[in-house]
Amino acid sequence: MILKEIQKIFHIELDSIYGKEEVDSFFYLLTDEFLGMSRLAFSLQPGFAISKEEEQPLFEALTKLKLEEPIQYILGKTEFFGLPFKVNQHTLIPRPETEELVHWIISKQEQSNKQLKILDIGTGSGCIAISLAKNLPNADFFAMDVSKEALKVASDNAELNDAAVTFIEGNILDRDRWNMDFKNVKFDIIVSNPPYVRNLEKAEMKNNVLNNEPSLALFVDDDNPLLFYQAITEFATIYLNQNGNLFFEINQYLGKEMIMLLENSKFNNIELKKDMFGNDRMIRGIKTSD
Ligand SMILES: C[S@@+](CC[C@H](N)C(=O)[O-])C[C@H]1O[C@@H](n2cnc3c(N)ncnc32)[C@H](O)[C@@H]1O
Repeated sequence: MILKEIQKIFHIELDSIYGKEEVDSFFYLLTDEFLGMSRLAFSLQPGFAISKEEEQPLFEALTKLKLEEPIQYILGKTEFFGLPFKVNQHTLIPRPETEELVHWIISKQEQSNKQLKILDIGTGSGCIAISLAKNLPNADFFAMDVSKEALKVASDNAELNDAAVTFIEGNILDRDRWNMDFKNVKFDIIVSNPPYVRNLEKAEMKNNVLNNEPSLALFVDDDNPLLFYQAITEFATIYLNQNGNLFFEINQYLGKEMIMLLENSKFNNIELKKDMFGNDRMIRGIKTSD
């Protein structure tokens, strides 16, 4: 079949869901992935035909796109902070806001010969820990998640990016295990992008997120939205070194509550930072006393 005809079918089937431009961008990502054919090569050969076997993955992807499966899961990969990452249904698809958090953490590090210890809680695909590891050579990296399946992807991603990260399977809400999982360790930086979407915010979310991304990575109860932040802040009061930094990605509607939480837990130099869309999205505090 002529590839241009397949592109037409993509538009007929998908434009009403995604709009013409996004459908084109999906189509070119897929032709690049499955046929090794760039957008430029495609435009230079309008009559290019492919075999039945070559058509198959394109039509399979079309079916998945009709069901609003994210293109990143269809391709099994994405990019974060300029690095390649594998993703699947067990890992959140890394977001641009999280790239901003990584950028902020890197910008806060002063040149020093001290070997830092950095922990990422709720690592998912490993995107935060791995992108930090590629940019902060004077540090040892640790990353935990409760999901075995996510940790498998994260560890594949560490290998893919040649980054040294020690992965820990653990539940940050299980306070009784902290001392077993982190005996005799203290960190200089703890970072987390934990689940923070309240069920009441589901109405604002798109189907592709709601029906495909792991609930475990996204949602918290309406009546306890800071569940993870409370546990991680408490953890940080014990497991951060003096002058250690705690960084969070946060729910845009809970900036004030997050400031209060950190203040009440004796963190200082608290900074709330907006993302590129002008929403309160990140917070940082320093633990000044032990
Ligand atoms: C919002 S996702 C963040 C993933 C990744 N760090 C990112 O920024 O794209 C939250 C992560 O927390 C993990 N998680 C959920 N409950 C947890 C728990 N009780 N203890 C540790 N990790 C947990 C989920 O499996 C998920 O990978």
